[in-house]
Amino acid sequence: MFNLSENACIGVIGAGAMGTGITQIAAQNGHKVCLVDASAPALEKSQTLLKTTFYKLAEKGKISPENAEKAIQAIRFTTALEDLYSADLVIEAIVENLAIKKEIFSRLAAIVKPEAILATNTSSLSVTSIASSVKNAERVLGLHFFNPPPLMPLVEVVPGLASADSTVQSILALMKKWGKKPVLAKDTPAFIVNRLARPFYGEAIRMMEEGIADCATIDWAMKTFGQFKMGPFELMDYIGHDVNYVVTETVFAAFFYDPRYRPSFSQKRLLEAGRLGKKSGHGFYNYGAAMPEPQKDEVLGRIIMERIVAMLINEAAEALLLGVASASDLDLAMKAGVNYPKGLLEWANEWGAHNVYTVLKGLQETYGDDRYRPSALLRQKALQNERF
Ligand SMILES: NC(=O)c1ccc[n+]([C@@H]2O[C@H](COP(=O)([O-])OP(=O)(O)OC[C@H]3O[C@@H](n4cnc5c(N)ncnc54)[C@H](O)[C@@H]3O)[C@@H](O)[C@H]2O)c1
Repeated sequence: MFNLSENACIGVIGAGAMGTGITQIAAQNGHKVCLVDASAPALEKSQTLLKTTFYKLAEKGKISPENAEKAIQAIRFTTALEDLYSADLVIEAIVENLAIKKEIFSRLAAIVKPEAILATNTSSLSVTSIASSVKNAERVLGLHFFNPPPLMPLVEVVPGLASADSTVQSILALMKKWGKKPVLAKDTPAFIVNRLARPFYGEAIRMMEEGIADCATIDWAMKTFGQFKMGPFELMDYIGHDVNYVVTETVFAAFFYDPRYRPSFSQKRLLEAGRLGKKSGHGFYNYGAAMPEPQKDEVLGRIIMERIVAMLINEAAEALLLGVASASDLDLAMKAGVNYPKGLLEWANEWGAHNVYTVLKGLQETYGDDRYRPSALLRQKALQNERF
């Protein structure tokens, strides 16, 4: 039986972007935190950042100066994994590499108490595989925060094959206490958000490659008719092609090369050229030049939006069919994790499953490509005129 008390000691491994953010949340919620990183400079950087953040929060009146000081004092920074011996929960946020994560979990299991819960913040690796390096795998699970963790409300809670129900329930309760919106996701490639979002990028690139519209027009269409905060090309440039392309390639391989997730040559070439997006000054857009003007044609704009949204809905329907998550968690994940204007199944109900199905059937017929095959669940909802 795994349980976490109000004053549970939290261990965090990895003082990078994610580990630092997770440490902030835990300390702000009154926990003692032990932050471990193999690199002393990374710890120093994280410590400076956390101090600045807590003082800023106090200045803005978001927390009291006493609580800011208390939170700073509650964090211990160390390079020794052994210092996690008293942790009740350890959240691992080190480099995304299966062999390295397995090694750290196996070392960790020998240090912590038998009743301590061990979580991984992996975005794309199998939780079950990471857990297999620990004898007592009932206490291991995935706990996927979004960047930046203190600001993004979504957390994907991912039980591995061996996770105990009490492990999962105590983490769900803790996340709610921390003010997060946890969703439960099956241990499948890319969990919910990173899986469902693939067509937002992939279908946009596909249309650009075919010459249906340019980047600026596709971005304009998605923002104007889809109410997305950012267009797909702006977003990919913002995320960086070193991250976004690699995720696409990883997901494609993890799904045994299903054409639905096929990466594109256009994005691969950007990566090869070092055009990583905003951070390198050039990606799909050149940030050193004037931005191209979209072709504001409403008919074209709606066709673009409907094609991408139909593909997104199809992905959500397939995830529901395969039990990746409940319909409400699938919808919540996209709204709270990537700021989608609506949940995708909600969107299907509004638009009508039949209309979504018609768009996909049309694409499948036009291209003869399995990439466009409608999910059996979408087909059923369309033919029986049902809601999700
Ligand atoms: N950055 C994101 O947007 C994001 C979002 C969700 C999940 N994640 C996942 O979170 C994890 C961390 O990502 P990040 O962006 O914070 O990485 P990062 O590169 O910013 O930080 C990783 C830290 O881990 C440390 N580290 C590496 N190997 C270690 C080891 N063996 N022992 C101790 N410390 C070690 C490094 O020194 C570094 O400080 C990855 O699994 C990533 O996939 C990242």
